[in-house]
Amino acid sequence: MRGGGLVAFPTETVYGLGANALDKAAVKSIYAAKGRPSDNPLIVHIAKKEDFAPLVREITPKAQALIDAFFPAPLTIILPKSDLIGSVVSGGLGTVAVRMPQNETARAVIAAAGVPIAAPSANTSGKPSPTNAQYVYEDMNGRIDAIVDGGECEFGVESTVITLAGETPVILRPGAVTQEMLEAVIGRVELSPAVLNELAENETAASPGMKYKHYAPKARIILVEGSRDNYERFVNMQRDCAALCFEGDNITIPKVTYGAEDNALSQSHEIFSALRRLDEIGAKKAYARAPEKSGVGMAVYNRLIRAAAFCVLNLTKPFTIGLTGLTGAGKGYVCERLEARGYRILSTDLYARRAVEKNSPLLGILAGEFGQDIIENGELNRALLAGRAFADSAKTARLNEIMHPEIIKMCRADASCPCVLDASQLFESGADALCSRLLCVSAPEELRLKRIIERDGITEQQARQRMGAQLSEETLESGADYVIINDGRDINSQLDEFINNYL
Ligand code: TXA
Ligand code: MG
Repeated sequence: MRGGGLVAFPTETVYGLGANALDKAAVKSIYAAKGRPSDNPLIVHIAKKEDFAPLVREITPKAQALIDAFFPAPLTIILPKSDLIGSVVSGGLGTVAVRMPQNETARAVIAAAGVPIAAPSANTSGKPSPTNAQYVYEDMNGRIDAIVDGGECEFGVESTVITLAGETPVILRPGAVTQEMLEAVIGRVELSPAVLNELAENETAASPGMKYKHYAPKARIILVEGSRDNYERFVNMQRDCAALCFEGDNITIPKVTYGAEDNALSQSHEIFSALRRLDEIGAKKAYARAPEKSGVGMAVYNRLIRAAAFCVLNLTKPFTIGLTGLTGAGKGYVCERLEARGYRILSTDLYARRAVEKNSPLLGILAGEFGQDIIENGELNRALLAGRAFADSAKTARLNEIMHPEIIKMCRADASCPCVLDASQLFESGADALCSRLLCVSAPEELRLKRIIERDGITEQQARQRMGAQLSEETLESGADYVIINDGRDINSQLDEFINNYL
C-alpha cells in the first residue's frame, strides 16, 4: 500500500479496498478497479485517534465529542478538509470523510501501512458491498494486489456517515451507530431526506454516493411494506420470482432469508450476502420484506430501498390493484383474468347496489336529498333517482358525495390482500389513494360505443350521453401505472407486462 498498491481488508462493516490516501495515482486506481464515478469521494481510514487532526481544518467540539464517545467505531465523520487531502480523495469537495475502524485487523493493516488509507467498499460500483473475502475476490480478482481475509464482517452494512461541516449535524448514510446514539452525545441530529427518498433529477446530493444506483443484484428488487401475513399471501401467489424474507416467514416460492424480523443486527449482518445469494439462485425478480425503520433497521431499510431502485409495493393499503376504465372498455374481462390469477375482486357496482338495499340508512339520506318518492315499498326506484341526480352536475356531485364514501367503506371492510378494487369511478371517489397499484383499461371510442349499445340495449344517443359523463380518457390513463389497450390486442400478455413491471 505504501508503494501504491491496492489491498482489500476486512472491517467491522464491510470489506474496504484500500490505497495510500496521500498518493494521488494509487487513489485513482481505486476508482478504476471499482468502476466508480470520480466525483464520489472516499472515506479516509485511520488507526489512531491522533491521526484525525492532520486530515481536517479543525476538529470541532461536536466532532471531538463523537470521537471520544465512539471511536473506534462504524462511524464516519465529515469535516472541512486540510491541504493534506487531495481532490481525488474528496471527489472535488472541500470536505473529507474520516473513520477509525473497530476491527483490529483493519487497524493493524492501516497502522502497518503507516499512512492514512482511502478505502471505499471493495465491490464493483453499484453491486452489494462485500461482507467476506470470497465476495471481494469475485468482484476484484485480477484488478487488485491482495486481499486480507478476516472472515465475515460483524455488522454487514457500511458505517454511519455524519457530516459536521454544516450548521446542524446530518446523517448522510445510516449505519450501526444510530441517530439515537449520536443524539445522546451531541444533541439534535438530522436525517438527510436522501436516506429514504429518491433524489429529484435536478437535486444535488449532499453525499455524492447517494445519487448512484446502489447495492443492486441482478434480480429486480421490489421492497414490500406490510404485515407478515399480507406479504406471505401476496408473494406466495407470484410466479417466476423469489422472496427476500425473514427467517420463519412462510414462503412457498424460492427464497433467501436475511435475519430475523425482530433483530435488526441480524438483518444488517446478512443483507448484502442475501442480495448476492439471490444472484446465486438465479432470481430475476425478488420481493423483499421491508424491515422496521428504527435503530439499525434504518440502515437496512436504506440499503434495501436503494437495491430496489426505490420501487416500493405498499401492501398496508387495503387494495392491491385499483382497476378502472371507461364504460365499454372491457374492465369486466380484465377482472376475470385477474380473478383467474388468484386475485379477489371487489366491484364497486355490486357494493353500490348493496349500499341502498331496503332499510339501509343511506336510502333515507338519498330520499332526504332527492325526494321521498324515490323510495317505493321500501325499495329504491333507480330510474327516478337517476333522472333527478343526473339532471345537472351539482346534483350528480351531491349523489357521488353521498354514495362514494359508503361504497368504499364497504369495500374496505371486505378487502383482503391480494385483491382488486374494480371501480369505474376510482379517481372520483378518491379510492385510488387506497390502492398499491393502478391499472386502467382503455379502448377506442367507437369500439366502446358499439360495445355499450350491444351490451345494454340502448340507443347511440343514450350511450354517448353516458360516455360523456365520465372523466376523460387522458385523465384516467395519466393517473394509472399501466394502461391495457383492449382493441383486439392480447389482454393476457399485457397483464403479464403490468404484473412483471409494476407488481
Ligand atoms: O463502512 C464503511 O464506511 C466502508 C468501510 C470499507 O470502511 N466504506 C465505505 O466507503 O462504505 P464507500 O466509498 O463505499 O462509501 C462512502 C460514502 C459514499 O456514499 C460517499 O459519497 C460518502 O461516503 N462520502 C465520502 N466522502 C464524503 C464527503 N466529503 N462528503 C459527503 N459524502 C462523502
Ligand atoms: Mg460502497
